[in-house]
Amino acid sequence: MVFNSSIRYLDKRLTVDEIDIEAIVNEVGTPAYLYSLARMRRNFHRLRTAFASVNARLHFSVKANGNLDVLRALDAVGAGFDCVSGGEIYRVLEAGAVADDIVFAGVGKTRAELAYAIKNGVGWINVENVGELALIDQLAGDANGKAVRVALRLNPEVTALTHPHMATGHGAAKFGMTADVIRDLLDRPEAYPRIRFAGIHMHIGSQLGDLSATLAALDKLLALTTDYPWINAINLGGGLPVAYRFNEAIAAPDQLAVQLSHRLKGYDVLLEPGRAIVADAGLLVAEALYVKRQAGQTFVVVDASMAELIRPALYGAHHEIVPLRQIEGDTVTTQVVGPVCESADLLGADRELPPLKPGDKVALMTAGAYGMTMASNYNARPRPVEAVVDGERWWVSRRRETYADLLRNEV
Ligand code: LLP
Repeated sequence: MVFNSSIRYLDKRLTVDEIDIEAIVNEVGTPAYLYSLARMRRNFHRLRTAFASVNARLHFSVKANGNLDVLRALDAVGAGFDCVSGGEIYRVLEAGAVADDIVFAGVGKTRAELAYAIKNGVGWINVENVGELALIDQLAGDANGKAVRVALRLNPEVTALTHPHMATGHGAAKFGMTADVIRDLLDRPEAYPRIRFAGIHMHIGSQLGDLSATLAALDKLLALTTDYPWINAINLGGGLPVAYRFNEAIAAPDQLAVQLSHRLKGYDVLLEPGRAIVADAGLLVAEALYVKRQAGQTFVVVDASMAELIRPALYGAHHEIVPLRQIEGDTVTTQVVGPVCESADLLGADRELPPLKPGDKVALMTAGAYGMTMASNYNARPRPVEAVVDGERWWVSRRRETYADLLRNEV
């Protein structure tokens, strides 16, 4: 069975770029995140090709996966980066990226974060409220007096068809500014002498398979840029969808690009894809600890939980779960649960799985985006190891946290 160009069964064993996953986790333990750098590069190139006709600049959304080896690999193939905190900017700079290739976004940037971004010379700041502009103008004066390039984030008042936690473009959302507010600002740019208003940004949500909301929002954005023709950059944010289920049909990036591209001709186009680059390049490996039958159900308790992968608990998200060793025979309807003391710690409900025994290992698929970056130490669980596979090599990229790490900052 083949999941994608990098993840498949070979001789009934699940592999990443032909490396046996069990061999890796025998060394690094479980739970463990594994990433294929080859798959990430492939996804990046696919998006770049899809949007080549508008020469889109791809800024990888670091919130999806901030692993330093991942950032380095994407930097090496020419990605820029979308950062939403001083910490993400720090990570990206440590990975060796050029500050000018960073877009700094976020609904509540602090003074310290803005000062840090300006001092380091980030390429763009996506601004989400008027108060922030005054602060940037002041900080730019304190730093080097150089104009700071800004994109104003439009709240297009359009609701995307996605999980409510992932919709950001409706008027009641905290994100962005309405068109009226943006017009007010663009009518008197001289009020902010150290700011160069150069673009409009929008991001109406994630997993945007249906393009109609995006097109409606883009039309609102274009109404602005038509009235202020000196605005020549459009940042469309992220949100390109990925398939989380076997055989789930999602629109290919080139189909999406075709529908957007003719509207974008003549603009400098920026995108902020996160999951479309990394989600299907990563998986979380867990080991079955116990099997119990209760109330007519079969529970498999594994050593990964909502602390390592919160998406099922937070969004009801679906991650396919497969055994590392392909086992023939009848399947059992299984509740795959973690050890955390929360009923929401259910990683997979009603999964048809081969009968699992303690010690068997499973992979939670499509976990390369918003997996490790959303992991916590809840229940004092050390965060898991991250290993990367690059061609024929693999290595530990971030070691598993220890108990001592849990106490590191306590005074
Ligand atoms: N740009 C902006 C302004 C964003 O807010 C986001 C995601 C992205 C880009 C990247 O979106 P992507 O291409 O990865 O869909 N934690 C979540 C979803 C929330 C994402 C927040 N913003 C999840 O686990 O699905």
